[in-house]
Amino acid sequence: MRNNITFTMIKPDAMENGYAGDILSLILKSGFLISALKLVHLTKNQAEKFYNIHREKSFFDELVTFMTRSPIIVAVLKKSNAVEDFRELIGSTNPADAENGTIRKLFAASMGENAIHGSDSIDNAHIESMFFFAGKEIY
Ligand code: RTP
Ligand code: MG
Repeated sequence: MRNNITFTMIKPDAMENGYAGDILSLILKSGFLISALKLVHLTKNQAEKFYNIHREKSFFDELVTFMTRSPIIVAVLKKSNAVEDFRELIGSTNPADAENGTIRKLFAASMGENAIHGSDSIDNAHIESMFFFAGKEIY
């Protein structure tokens, strides 16, 4: 099933604030299964490549500096309708606009430092999963 996985990162702000356990707990309680998971400290090169689509944006350098600040958790999650359901669970990019009960509303402080990433399409879920994991590491 191509549409049953999504890719997530628990970002540096959430890791530094000690929210990783609570965030993973909420993800699991929301019906997602963990298919792959590890801790990584992104290099500048990796962060630039991952967010290449934003290369021309004004916030790009700030985003790369932020994402390389501390080790992060990267994971592949499984659920039916995973991409759409996970975007709903994480909430709007700007936590101030996020719905109550969403991860960004609960754990994020700003648009730039917003606790968590979720893939925005089925194609990107696969591309991003393969960026960090070999096929045999995804269960
Ligand atoms: P993500 O890719 O991390 O899941 O976030 P998203 O889809 O909700 O937002 P996107 O537009 O893809 O932006 C990627 C990340 O860049 C940072 N950002 N900062 N300061 C700003 O105006 C600004 N805008 C975006 C955020 O960390 C955002 O999640
Ligand atoms: Mg995005």
